[in-house]
Amino acid sequence: MGRGRDHRYRFPAPNAPALLASRAMGPLLLGPVLLGTVPLSLSLLLPAAQAQDGSTPSGADIYAYCVDCHGKRGEGGKDGTYPRIGGLPRDYLDRQLHAFKSQTRINKPMVPIFKHYRFDAEIIDRVAGHVAGLSPPAPNLWPYAPNPDALAAYPDRAAYVAAGEQTYAGSCARCHGEDGGGTEAGPPLVAQYPAYLIKQIGDFARSGRTHAQSERCADLTPAAADAVVNHLVELSK
Ligand code: HEC
Ligand code: HEC
Repeated sequence: MGRGRDHRYRFPAPNAPALLASRAMGPLLLGPVLLGTVPLSLSLLLPAAQAQDGSTPSGADIYAYCVDCHGKRGEGGKDGTYPRIGGLPRDYLDRQLHAFKSQTRINKPMVPIFKHYRFDAEIIDRVAGHVAGLSPPAPNLWPYAPNPDALAAYPDRAAYVAAGEQTYAGSCARCHGEDGGGTEAGPPLVAQYPAYLIKQIGDFARSGRTHAQSERCADLTPAAADAVVNHLVELSK
């Protein structure tokens, strides 16, 4: 129930967005590359921020290192190569940053950040607090353009739409909320870029990223995942 029948096509290659991201990093890295290494740019940023009051830099100061990819208000961009992060729950953000640092969640574009010795738990918590307090405008995601292969896995468009709704209600809403706005048990999924969500579900399926109940995502076919994302876009309207 609620699953696509099609097994012919696969989730995108694991590092597709990361590769895109590293290409997009040109302007960001130009300065640091000229100066030597990527971590050097952070070492320039953090002490500069520190100098202002002689203590640890504020969340806003640290966020200066994120803004090129995630945007001033945490709105993300590049159609979801960079996720929308502003306003996500602080503890969720904290956990993701620690997962990136320990590389239990792989995020190549962000690896250089965590190579910097100063990116410790306190810095992470401060920047997480700053990001949680941002309120980016909701991206205009509607209407979602289904992946043609996903659509082809269902008898018709109505069946595709219904499958996404049923899968979400039956397998996801308990933790991510009826309206996709998140609960104690799972982060919000609405107002997030579809391409990013598809990649995450693929990462769960490939076990590249740990999900609370991995099997709930791991057993989605790509077609069923596409239908769920269509439903999330409907919820984001
Ligand atoms: C060079 C680009 C780049 C920079 C700089 C960057 N990020 Fe990211 N970030 C990414 C990409 C790409 C992803 C998506 C990774 C994936 O596909 O799983 C991501 C994912 C995230 C996520 C996970 C979002 C979610 O919904 O789970 C968080 C949180 C995050 N970044 C926070 C930050 C913070 C805080 C900074 C600054 C300290 C930062 N990022 C700097 C590229 C960047
Ligand atoms: C038992 C609770 C639970 C259920 C059921 C569940 N999730 Fe999740 N989900 C989570 C948690 C917890 C996380 C955050 C994992 C982490 O900390 O990295 C998450 C993360 C995600 C993310 C990544 C969000 C981001 O910003 O990167 C996506 C996408 C997602 N879930 C989709 C789904 C879908 C689709 C379903 C239903 C098929 C589902 N989940 C069912 C708890 C759940």
